[in-house]
This record gives sequence, C-alpha cells and structure tokens, in this order.
Amino acid sequence: MAFSIQRFSASVTAFVFGHPFPTEAVVAKPLQGQELEQVFGSSSQQVAGSSIPSQYVSITEADDGIYIRYSLAEGDAIYGVGQNMGRLNKCGQLFKTWCSDEFRHLPDKASLYGAHPFLVIKGENNFALFIDYPGEMTLDLGFSDPSQISIHIPTHHVRIFEFTAANAKQQVRDFRSLIGQPYIPPRWAFGYQQCRWSYYDKNAVNEVVEKLRHFDIPCDSVYLDIDYMEEFKDFTLDPHRFSDFSNWVAQLRQQGIRLIPIIDAGVKVADNYSVYQEGHEKGYFCKTETGDEFQAAVWPGLCAFPDFFQPEVRQWWGKQYQFLTDQGIDGFWNDMNEPALFYSPQGLQQAISHAEQCKDKNIGVHEFFQLKGAFENLSNRREDYQAIWHQLEDGNRINHEQVHNLYGQKMTQAADEGFKQLNPDKRYLMFSRASAISGHRYGGIWLGDNHSWWEHLKLNVAMMPGVNMCGYLYSGADVGGFAGNATSELLCRWIQFAVFTPLLRNHSCMGTRDQEPYAFDENALTIMRQHIKLRYRLIPYLYSEFMQAAKNNENLFWPLPLEYADPDAQNVEDQLLVGRALMCAPVLEQNASGRYVYLPENMLLWKVRQHDKFDLKIMPQGHHYLPLELAEMALFLRPDSILPLVDSAHHVEAQDLSSLECLVYLHSSAEYVLYHDDGVTHNWQHGAQASLKVKVFYDAENKIQQDVTIEGDLPYRQVKLTIIDQFEQVVVRHIPIA
Ligand code: GLC
Repeated sequence: MAFSIQRFSASVTAFVFGHPFPTEAVVAKPLQGQELEQVFGSSSQQVAGSSIPSQYVSITEADDGIYIRYSLAEGDAIYGVGQNMGRLNKCGQLFKTWCSDEFRHLPDKASLYGAHPFLVIKGENNFALFIDYPGEMTLDLGFSDPSQISIHIPTHHVRIFEFTAANAKQQVRDFRSLIGQPYIPPRWAFGYQQCRWSYYDKNAVNEVVEKLRHFDIPCDSVYLDIDYMEEFKDFTLDPHRFSDFSNWVAQLRQQGIRLIPIIDAGVKVADNYSVYQEGHEKGYFCKTETGDEFQAAVWPGLCAFPDFFQPEVRQWWGKQYQFLTDQGIDGFWNDMNEPALFYSPQGLQQAISHAEQCKDKNIGVHEFFQLKGAFENLSNRREDYQAIWHQLEDGNRINHEQVHNLYGQKMTQAADEGFKQLNPDKRYLMFSRASAISGHRYGGIWLGDNHSWWEHLKLNVAMMPGVNMCGYLYSGADVGGFAGNATSELLCRWIQFAVFTPLLRNHSCMGTRDQEPYAFDENALTIMRQHIKLRYRLIPYLYSEFMQAAKNNENLFWPLPLEYADPDAQNVEDQLLVGRALMCAPVLEQNASGRYVYLPENMLLWKVRQHDKFDLKIMPQGHHYLPLELAEMALFLRPDSILPLVDSAHHVEAQDLSSLECLVYLHSSAEYVLYHDDGVTHNWQHGAQASLKVKVFYDAENKIQQDVTIEGDLPYRQVKLTIIDQFEQVVVRHIPIA
C-alpha cells in the first residue's frame, strides 16, 4: 500500500494515500528540510513505505477503500465529531459524514448538517484523529462491536492525521492550529437575536421590535426569513411587503436593531431574474454529466446551484450580497446549502410513474410501502447528488458525491470573499447551516432545525464543545427549538443555557406557536428578561474569552473530563466549562426544581435570579443537589477566577462601558486579562486591541491587594471589585482608572 508521511510537529503526523482532494481544511504546511531534521533528527524524512507507523491505530487498505481500526479499552471515551447526535462521550455510536438537511434529529441520525470528522480518544491511550476527506465515510465508534472503533473511508485518496500530544486539550489545540483561525463576528452579534419563519412584512418586524423594547427585552437583531424575498429569489426584496427597504433598515438601526436576511443556495430558474440569467449565461451553475445545468426544486420551485468550487463563481456570488449591504445590511445567514434538494424533475417523474402503475390496482402492503417511499424519499436523493458535477480550477470535473461536504462551506467562503472585496475592514455577521472543516474560517454555524424538545436542549449542550473543537466558535442552536411548540418552561431553561453560547438566537418554524419571550406568561417573561439581561452583563467576558479562544486555538466550551483528571469528573455530561473562569450547569429536565452537580474543585456559586444582584455561596468540591427554581440558574466561578461584568442595555452598542464590575473568587491570587477592541473592524489584527488586567492577591501581611493595569485604548473608567474569599468574606472596592 503506497502512502507518504507528513510531519507537522513532534505530535502531529499525517498519512497520505493517493492524491487526496485539496479540501483546504489544513492550512499548515508539513515540516520540510531543516525544520524536519530539527524535530526528528537527520534520519527521519518524509517516507513512503508499506507499514504505517501510526502510534495507535491500524490503517489498512482494501478494495473498497481504507479502514482505520482501534481496539477500545474498558472506560475509553470518545469526544468530538462536531455537530452530531449523542452526548459528549460518543462511544457506542455510528456516524456518517454527509452534510444533511435533517429536520428531525432523532437519536439514531448518523449525520446532520455539518461533516466534522475530528475525534479525540481518551482512556488507556490518548490521541486524536482527523480524516481529511470531503465525501461520505462511516465512523463506527463501538456501535457494531463495543470494543472497536472502525472507520471506513470509501476511497484510496485521503489524508489521515494523528495527534499524539499528551492530553486531549493539547490535541485539540494542535488540530486547531492546523486548520487556522476561526471567523470573528462583530461584537454586536453577541447580543440577543430574534428570528421566526417568518415575519412576513415590515409591520410584523416593527411589531416585534416594539414589543421587545416595550417589555424591556434587550435585542440586537431581528431576522428576515425567506419571505422577505420576491418569490424566494436570492438578492431580491418583495416590493410590496418590504418597500422602501434602506430607509426602514436605517430607522431600525436607530433603535439598535440590525436586520439579518437569509440567503439560500438554490437560485430560482426564471427568465426575468437577473441573478439566474447572468449565472446561466456565464455557465456558473453546477452541471450534469452531459453538461446541462443541474436543476432541482427548493423554495422557489426549480433552482440552479452555483458551482462554488470555481473561484470565479465564488467571486460572482460574493458580489451579490452587495445588493443588501448597499441598503444597510451587515449580517446574513446562509441556508439550504448542503445543498437541500426538495425534489428533482427526474425523481418526481419516477414517483409519479410509480403511482400511475399502482392506479386502479389493489396493491399489497409491500407495494404500498414502496409507493409511499417513492414520494417520501423524493428529497435529498443520492441519485440527484450523483447527477451533479463540479468544474475544478485544474480543468478537471469532479462528481459531487466525492466532495459533497464542501459545498455549503464554499458558499460561505464565497460570501466571506465578497465581504472582503466590499469592505475589507468591516466584520460582517455570517453563519451557515452546512459546514465542514475549514468553513470555520469564513463564518459561524447554527445547529440546524432542532425541535422544541428537552432532548434537543441537552443536544445543544453536548454539541457545543464538539463544534468548538472544529473551529466553530461562533455557534448556537435555535433557542427554544425550531420545530414544534415550546413551553414557557422549556424556553426559560433554554435561555438559561444559551446565555453562554456566542450565537443567542430564538428561532421557530412556520406553523408553531409564537416563541418571542413576550408571547408567554408574565412569570416566564420576567425570567427570560432577567437572563437575557444577564447575557448582556456577561458580554465583556464572553467576547474576551471568545477572542482568546480564537487566537490561542482554544475552545470556549470544554467538557469537564478534558479539564479535570479526577474520576468523578469523567462522567459529567451536562455541565460545561465556559471560558477559563466559569462553569455552567443548566437545568435540562422538565418540571425540575433543581439538579445534581459535581464540582471537581471548590467553586463560587452565583445563583442568578436577578441579573443585577449577587446571590453568592461557596460550594465545596464534591457532589451536590442544587435547588434551582425556574427563575434561577447556576453560574459557577472557579477558584482564583475573575468574572468581568457590565450593565445591561437595550442593545450591545448602547452598553455603558465606563464602569466594569469584577466578581472575584479569591483563594490566593486571581488574575484576569480582559480583551477589548472596536468590535466592528479587523483592525485588531494590526494591533488595535486593548486590555485591562485585574490582579487580586494577598500581600505579605495577608491583606487583599489589587493591581489594575491597562494597555491600549479602553472605555473603562473605573472598576468595582466584589471579592469573595475562601471564608465567604466579601470585600468591595472601587478602583478608578487613570
Ligand atoms: C430551513 C432553515 C430554517 C428556516 C427555514 C425557512 O429549514 O433551517 O432555519 O427558517 O429553512 O427558510
């Protein structure tokens, strides 16, 4: 079996088979020449051979592709795999990498919208794997045989990465340093966002804004779903329901609200539609094998699909966003980009012929199920994907089947490239539904069409570390659940978790009950208001932690087992570390008035009922039952940690940043470096960033002292320290900043 080896560092190796498709997932270059010799000594070169020197797994080639196998030991755990079903530990599950438009995330779904084949194995051996292949592969993580990981990649052209650093967190960092820095959203994108399919016209949107402001719910953006367009045509506006658009956008901006329109991958096939006409004339859409334009139906009926694999097409597509940015829009969500296909004309014709054959017949049960299936399986058919061909830069064509998982993220790449052309300094809000590894450099993701189920709140918790590991830091689920009817209790509890997710967007599906906070009972509204306000108070921390995670290849959310070695922490599935200072422990059960928590170390509990009032208690290391009424959520501060807070406001840019409050849980010496920048440009990359360092410590006489130092241009003029020591003594100090 022919392969070559690439070394990226002492603990990162890639085994390269055949000629893998250039996915651009990995931006780092393998070590060469002297660098290679420095790390491995002169004898170690990139070698080709027949026996793969993998430290942990067996890699074998068969007629039907390549297999990676690993024997699991008792107690081994598997983390990662990005956006997928299951809990944090993925042992025992079966996954397939195939970006799927998957409306019902039932527990046995093998693929969702993202394809993220990065996994961490923790236990007897500790290592991680990334399989850089953009088609479908099967990851059997102890599903068929509980003692075996078996990964099948149906190709002879693939790059397999092995990460062998001593611990899982370092393996994740090593992976992230290979795949490049994540997308950085504008700071206002950390505010609360309100969405629904759909707010049908300007009045509907205005009413939402009025009510949110009236009920004192902070909010930064309201979303426009597909109905803002004319006949679902991308880059158009319905002239009646959304007339005088740019003036309206400006009016809302004055109220601190940004509008975020959706863009779909499918372009309506229509003679009088310039985007389609131009794309068609220039040959920019995906083709069939015989060179015809591939067409299938999505929202607007028959659509053509831009061939985002071609740089020229991406450039063309990226420019289209200008139609909306020129009218004051600075954020978008890219949807249906797996791409979702409702039906193809061929598929529909086959189903109709099938039905015709059954007409007037007394069909038996098997024929009935076949008939039913012929219609039920019309969407996202494999045959339809196989009919798509992409044109590559080198002049060759490639069948979609082999590169399916890259399509959606290339749409997001096109948008990002377009934004850079339009206004290279500005940060736009951009997130996508479909994704693979490398899309994180161009935008965030939301977690797709979930349901208003408690199970999907749990899923949201479990997914966050997985998508973070793959570089998707700007992410979050549809809060409250997209499909189905949320109860006020579910939405309250969901918000109590989502106050920590960078993307905090309440979204719901057509036909479901209204899901805006004010659509529920008074008690729930009060609870939601308090916790959304808490979110705004947390923004300095979340933003600062987000930026440090992006810059240092860290997660924002870490599972406890990856941070703590103690045995009891290994089974904790429903608490997460959020940045370096906090741990969250959301209530995830219906009708629960509390929950069990495990504290791997002493922690300071802030039981948040009111965003502006501390209710603090030190809780010792160990297992606890924590009463938490619906109005209360638990926020834990780690020892020697500092949580920076500001006052809430109606929207992010209206927040008063002159006064910073720091909650300090002091053991011996606590320090926090708060990152700050302008929040709207990329100038931070050229040094335009500032920091405020707070240090609280005991001096030689055992007195509490503090140092507050600043670097760069900061809005903060004074710091209020609320210090809790190990004996629950509270010290409050006001420190002016010169
Ligand atoms: C898809 C999206 C959802 C959106 C709907 C209508 O289902 O995932 O968020 O509301 O399409 O555009």
